[in-house]
Amino acid sequence: MDRPFYVTTPIYYVNDRPHIGHAYSTVATDVISRYQRIRGRSAYFMTGLDEHGLKIERRAKEEGLAPQDFVDQMAAPFRLAWEELECAHDGFIRTTSQQHRQNVQALWKLMEANGDVYLDDYEDWYCVGCESFKTEKELLEGNLCPIHQKPVERIKERSYFFRLSKYAQPLLDHYEAHPKFVQPEARFNEVKSFVREGLRDLSISRTSFRWGVPVPDDPEHVVYVWLDALMNYVSALGGPAEEGQAPLYDEFWRSAETIIHIVGKDILRFHAVYWPAFLLSAGIRLPTQVWAHGWLTVNGEKMSKSLGNFLPPGPLVEAFGADVLRYYFMREVGFGQDGDFSHRNLLNRYNGELANGLGNLMNRIVASILQKSLGGLVPGIDLDALEAIDRDLVAKAEACASDAAKHFEVLAFHRALDTIWDLVSATNKYVDSTQPWKLAKQGDDARLRQVCYTVLETLRWLSIMLFPVMPSKCNELRTQLGMQPLLPTEHLDLWPSAWGGLRPGTQTKAAKPLFPRFDESQERSILERLGVEAAPTEKNEVSAMTEPDQSKSSFIEIDDFTKVDLRVAVIKAAERVEKSNKLVRLLVDAGEAQPRQVLAGIAEHYAPEDLVGKRVVIVANLKPRKLMGLESQGMVLAASDESGLSLLGVDKAVAPGSRAK
Ligand code: MSP
Repeated sequence: MDRPFYVTTPIYYVNDRPHIGHAYSTVATDVISRYQRIRGRSAYFMTGLDEHGLKIERRAKEEGLAPQDFVDQMAAPFRLAWEELECAHDGFIRTTSQQHRQNVQALWKLMEANGDVYLDDYEDWYCVGCESFKTEKELLEGNLCPIHQKPVERIKERSYFFRLSKYAQPLLDHYEAHPKFVQPEARFNEVKSFVREGLRDLSISRTSFRWGVPVPDDPEHVVYVWLDALMNYVSALGGPAEEGQAPLYDEFWRSAETIIHIVGKDILRFHAVYWPAFLLSAGIRLPTQVWAHGWLTVNGEKMSKSLGNFLPPGPLVEAFGADVLRYYFMREVGFGQDGDFSHRNLLNRYNGELANGLGNLMNRIVASILQKSLGGLVPGIDLDALEAIDRDLVAKAEACASDAAKHFEVLAFHRALDTIWDLVSATNKYVDSTQPWKLAKQGDDARLRQVCYTVLETLRWLSIMLFPVMPSKCNELRTQLGMQPLLPTEHLDLWPSAWGGLRPGTQTKAAKPLFPRFDESQERSILERLGVEAAPTEKNEVSAMTEPDQSKSSFIEIDDFTKVDLRVAVIKAAERVEKSNKLVRLLVDAGEAQPRQVLAGIAEHYAPEDLVGKRVVIVANLKPRKLMGLESQGMVLAASDESGLSLLGVDKAVAPGSRAK
């Protein structure tokens, strides 16, 4: 039986480039679909882009492009990122496609035909970052969105509504009947309490901008971007608009055994409340599960597109390779938990677990003893004559395969990898105890063969169990074992179960180490290339420039203050400092014969091109100092709080060089 399995990522807003938060979702979804495939199931992996809405329309305008040209341009970096990360999606949907637009309109009509759409006046708060309405209760002081910490906008217009209120009870009934509908459990409880409080009808159209799908029969309105976006999961397969002529829709939606939406915790409500309500109204089946993963911080700091400090996956893939990054994502953070992406931890895991663990195991046997003593051939042995220590390892491998599968089934990737790494360690210990190099020296050929075979067969098992997470490395490993790469075909469960599959006489092909160990200077140069090595020193210097030590504050004399030469300066040129995340090199006119060069740690908060022309205040008599090899002749003043950093300026066009006192 096929048991069709459909798994999706959220569709990403194209207002910015992909970052590691997006990569994390997409890698997890790829791991799930690869796991399902090697279990013989027919899996379909969908991802794509959310291209409509006010946020995108505004971004396109900022870029001076027509919205369609802008989104066309932004699609490429996403496709490239997934290719680089070996995320082998089957479908890639863009919400500006004709097929999608037709399906959004078809969904609208189905909900309308069910009596769930009506026209009314509307007034509420709206966060453009979230593309979502907010109740007063949700807002922070000063009418700020709690997620983006930016002011929300007051919206007052005529709008179509969806009778969401009618679906509170049907949703609660559905949750009751499907106790795993939302994972993790704690998040499901939040969803249930939200719905139990009662649901307000939802505004589902807008008239104040054009960038969206027109409402059927009332093109003055465009469909609310979340209704549009959620429909992607169905429209990408052909959807109800192509009813009867959409084999993918039939297989992976209508009769799929499993449909899982992988989403970040911030967008769970849309997926676990609105989306199933739309589907109930339209008479379309519901997904089987919505899985909300946590959020990643970067080296301990919050990352988000709207705060501007995001980390693109490309340079990390270039530095470590796709599989290492995939491994780190899946191993470091319990799926469903928040976690931190730390370059240091990544290196530690690389050296400790990949190079010293799995890589070392390969080297010790395949590249070393097997070549030297057995001509690189897989030895033939009598499997019934194994010694107790060998049988223990076989039992360990069998338990590992069964436990890791259980963990993969429920998306506990970190647990699956923990279990698999127990086996890697046990196999390394087995090599330590059996000492094959000694057996070779002693000429104990029979025992040497048994030991080598046991390790090689364990490696074969590992090459399958790790395939969903590290597809390329596993196929490299298999090539070195003299085996075919894994090319999962549906209907065939490849998960290891029978010991002894590795054929004696197979010629192994030892090649370069799977995970060469990085020494300290290599680590340093990788971190430097990624702009991280400089972080401790650079960070100290940057914060010294922007954050005076509060603890020492006490009264100063006016003379002390006048020692500080504060001057108004106009920024004439600005560019990022190479290899630095934080520094911008500025040329400022401080009323002197020549512009001065000042370095400022503001790159995460301002784009260089936005700085040119700004009037700022500088400390003009600060002793020049070198940062990243460049001399800074002064300091730009800025103030920062949780919402970001802001440069100090003057409120009239005061002449450059004017003294502030
Ligand atoms: N377009 C909507 C989704 C529509 S799905 C029908 C959207 N797009 S997004 O680009 O803003 O975010 C996409 C996903 O990235 C979300 O699941 C979000 O949780 C995830 N992440 C964004 N930043 C993240 C981290 N820092 N860490 C992990 N995931 C994060 O929302």
